[in-house]
Amino acid sequence: MPKGFFQNPYETYDLLRTAGPVRRVSFVNWVDGWLVTRHADARRLLDDRRLLKNRAGVADLMPPHAAGAYASPLFDHMLNSDPPDHTRLRKLVTKAFTARAVARLRPRIEEIADALLDVVPAGETVDLLDGFAFPLPIIVICELLGVPAADRDQFRQWSRPLVAAASLAELAESTGGLSAYLRKLIAEKRAAPTQDVLSDLVHVSDDGDRLSPDELLNMAVLLLVAGFETTVNLIGNSVLALLRNPGQLKALRADPSLVPGAVEEFLRYEGPVHFATMRYTAEPVEAGGVEIPAGEFVLISLLAANRDPEKFPDPDRLDVTRPAAGHVAFGHGIHYCLGAPLARLEGAIALGRLLDRFGEIELAAEPADLRWRGSVLVHGLH
Ligand code: HEM
Repeated sequence: MPKGFFQNPYETYDLLRTAGPVRRVSFVNWVDGWLVTRHADARRLLDDRRLLKNRAGVADLMPPHAAGAYASPLFDHMLNSDPPDHTRLRKLVTKAFTARAVARLRPRIEEIADALLDVVPAGETVDLLDGFAFPLPIIVICELLGVPAADRDQFRQWSRPLVAAASLAELAESTGGLSAYLRKLIAEKRAAPTQDVLSDLVHVSDDGDRLSPDELLNMAVLLLVAGFETTVNLIGNSVLALLRNPGQLKALRADPSLVPGAVEEFLRYEGPVHFATMRYTAEPVEAGGVEIPAGEFVLISLLAANRDPEKFPDPDRLDVTRPAAGHVAFGHGIHYCLGAPLARLEGAIALGRLLDRFGEIELAAEPADLRWRGSVLVHGLH
C-alpha cells in the first residue's frame, strides 16, 4: 500500500474500487491477500460460508513474521471460529446483548457519561480520547461483565496491546497478565456468583458441556476487548467529524433527536474498524470479476465499502440526516457485531451528553497533529 495510506486511505480506495475492486495486494510487514473495496462484494463475502476464520486455519496460512499475533490460544474465541463452534458459543451470550437487554443500561451509562464530563474543565484544552472516550466504554463493559472497579486501570493496560501491540513481547506480556487475572476472577465468581455476565457464563460452563473452561476464559477476553477500543474510536471519530463539519454540528445541536441516526452516519463515514478480521478461502471463490483461489486471505475493507458511491451517493460528504443503514461498520453475516446495540447506545449517549453539557466545542489540535493509528484493525486517532 502507498506511503501515508493510513492517514488517508480513502483516495487509494477510490482508485482501487474503479481499477480492480477485488485485487491481490501486499501489506508490508503483514500479509498478502485479496483486498475488497466495493460495498456489494464486501456484504456478499462477509456472508459467504466458503470463507473461514478459525484461528488454527488462519495461523497456518500466516507468513512466519506475522503468525505470532495469532499464536496465543487465548484467541480461540467465537470471532475466530466457524460453525458449529461459532454457533454454539454465540448462542450462550446473545441474550445479554440484545437491544432490549442493553436498553436497560441507559440510565447507568448516562450517569457514567455525566460523571466523566463533570470533571472536564470548561474553557480548557482537554484530551477527549483520554478523558472521556476511553473511560466510558471501559467502565460500561467492566460493570456488565463484573470486573471490579479497582482493577479497571490495570485491565486497560493489558487490553490495549491485544488490538495494537507494538511488539510480540508486549503482546505476550499482556495476554499472560490478562489471562492470569481473568482465571482468578472466574474462580471468584464460581465461589461467590454476582449479577453479571461473567457469573452467568461460569454457571453455564459448570452446568454441562456447552462451554469448556478455556472457552469461558477466551469468551471473557473477547467480550472485554472487542467492546472498548472500537467504541472509544466511535466517540473520537464522531466528534472529530463534527468539528470538521460545523454545519453538521449546528444541525445536531438544533435537533438532538437526530443523534441516533447521526451515529449510523458516523459509523459509515469514519468507522472505528478498518478491516473485517482475517478470513481465508476454503475453496475457490468468485468475487468482483476475479477468481480467488483456495487458501488465500481475503481482506474486506469496511472503510472502503462504506464510502462506495454505488451504495452511498456523495460518500465523502458527512450528512447527519442521511439514511446510512446498510453500512458494514459492524460487519455482516454470522459474525455481525454482537455488541452493536450496546455500541450504538454508548455512542448516542456520549455525543448527546457532550453536546448538551458544552455549548461550544473547538478543535485544539493542528491538522498535522491529528494522526491516525497505523492499525489494520482499529481506525482511530493517536
Ligand atoms: C464483532 C465492530 C463494539 C463485541 C464485530 C465485527 C465488527 C465489529 C466489524 C465483525 C468482525 C468480522 O466479521 O471480522 C464493532 C464496532 C463497535 C463494536 C465498530 C463500536 C462502535 C462492540 C461492543 C461489544 C462488541 C461494545 C461488546 C461486547 C463483539 C463481538 C464480536 C464482534 C463479541 C464477535 C461476534 C462473532 O464472531 O459472532 N464487531 N464492534 N463489539 N463484536 Fe463488535
